[in-house]
Order: sequence, then structure tokens, then C-alpha cells
Amino acid sequence: MIDTHAHIDDPQYLDDLPGFIAQQQAEGVEAILVPGVDVSSIVPVMDVCRQFPGYLYPAIGLHPENISEDWMSQLEQIEDILKTHARDYIAIGEIGLDYHFDTTFKKEQQVALHKQTEWAMQYDLPVMIHNRDATEDCLNILKVYRGLRGVMHCFSGSNETAKRIVDMGLYLGIGGVITFKNCKLRENLVGIPLERLVLETDAPYMAPVPYRGKRNESRWMRYAASVLSEVYQTPIEHVYEVTTANAKALFRLK
Ligand code: NI
Repeated sequence: MIDTHAHIDDPQYLDDLPGFIAQQQAEGVEAILVPGVDVSSIVPVMDVCRQFPGYLYPAIGLHPENISEDWMSQLEQIEDILKTHARDYIAIGEIGLDYHFDTTFKKEQQVALHKQTEWAMQYDLPVMIHNRDATEDCLNILKVYRGLRGVMHCFSGSNETAKRIVDMGLYLGIGGVITFKNCKLRENLVGIPLERLVLETDAPYMAPVPYRGKRNESRWMRYAASVLSEVYQTPIEHVYEVTTANAKALFRLK
């Protein structure tokens, strides 16, 4: 299995990174994709990924929750890095819209999503999309970009939204949320082919049941995979096989 979204640069992992990585490898995790969230995360993300080449893969982007007064300057700095180092990155992410706590920079979030999606097209990279309480605006922006590759990370929306995303050619990132009691995601995946799903953790957040509230780990994707095996009435090995192939195709991993 491949963890398509984990913030392994988080200080919570730095005490024993080699031990942590060894444990994930021992339990079947083939690779982990590490998104950036702003300019200050660029160096920490690259630092952890350089320690485990071919296992940890870095992404770069400005997260909607990190958009404030200095957003233009942050975008300029990211653009400068892409101009010379786009090949060092597996994706543009995480980027998107988040209207949950604060809509002060709603317009700026939209412009930043447009700009960063343009870079994804320009450099032929997939996008890792974060969307919270902004589905309509988010899909309206993304649909402009024909042939865009990407994943709607930490998906927990409706069946209708899932279908619209998949129809746009994007993947749904499924993580710990699907193990939560009262989560409607099981029903909301009806009609969505397993071929459009990738696994993820959003570690250190979103740990699955029975580890809810703990620091998340990529190896615990098996709990989400287990729910998917019930939903799709297929052996868990098949869930691993298909979602791994999906992640490899989307992110062009060997
Ligand atoms: Ni994230």
C-alpha cells in the first residue's frame, strides 16, 4: 500500500524517523507522499524526503489555511522553486479551499488555487486537493483544467460529489475517516469504482479507529482498507493491489 498523503515532516515524527520508517516498511507500506503546506515547510519536507529517497516523496504547495496577508510573496517563492526544481516534486500540494473556520481570504484562496493548478498543468504534475466546506467553488475552479491529474485528499463528501469528482478524472483519497462511527462515506462510495480510490492517512491527523486521537501512522491504512474490502465485497489483498496501482499511475511512481 502507498500512503498518498502524510505530513511526516511534523515534529512528532522526528525523534525516531528511521525507526518509524522501518516499522511502516515492515508492515507493507511501499511509499509515503509528503505534502508541503507553505514556504516554511519546504525545507523540512525536503529534509525528511532526502533521508529516504525512493520511499518518501515531497510535494510543494500553499495550503488554503496558510493563506493570509503574505500569500502573494509565498506563491512567488514557490513558483521560483518550481522554475528550477519542479522535477524534484511528486505533486503540487496540498492546495485547495477551506471556508470552515475563516473566510477572510476566500478570494485569495481561489486565486491561489487557480495559480497552483496552472503550475500543475505547466509542469505536468498531479494536484493534492484539500477541500473543506467549499465544494462548489473548488470543483468550479478545477473543472477549468482539462486533463488535470489529482486527488481530492481526505474525501468525506456526498455520493453526488464523489461522482462529480470521479467524472472529472480525479481520484478520491480515503483515510481514517471511513473507520469512524456514523461516517456516511461507506454509503457514499456506491457506484464509485475502486479504480478511482487511493489510500492515505493525513498523518499525524485522522488516525483510524481503534487509534482515534493518536498520532497517525501509514501502516494503519489497513483499517481503512478493511472497511473498503467490506464496502466493495472484495478481499483486502485486492483493495491493496488496486489502490496501490492507482497511486502508482496517478503519481507516476515506479
Ligand atoms: Ni494534509
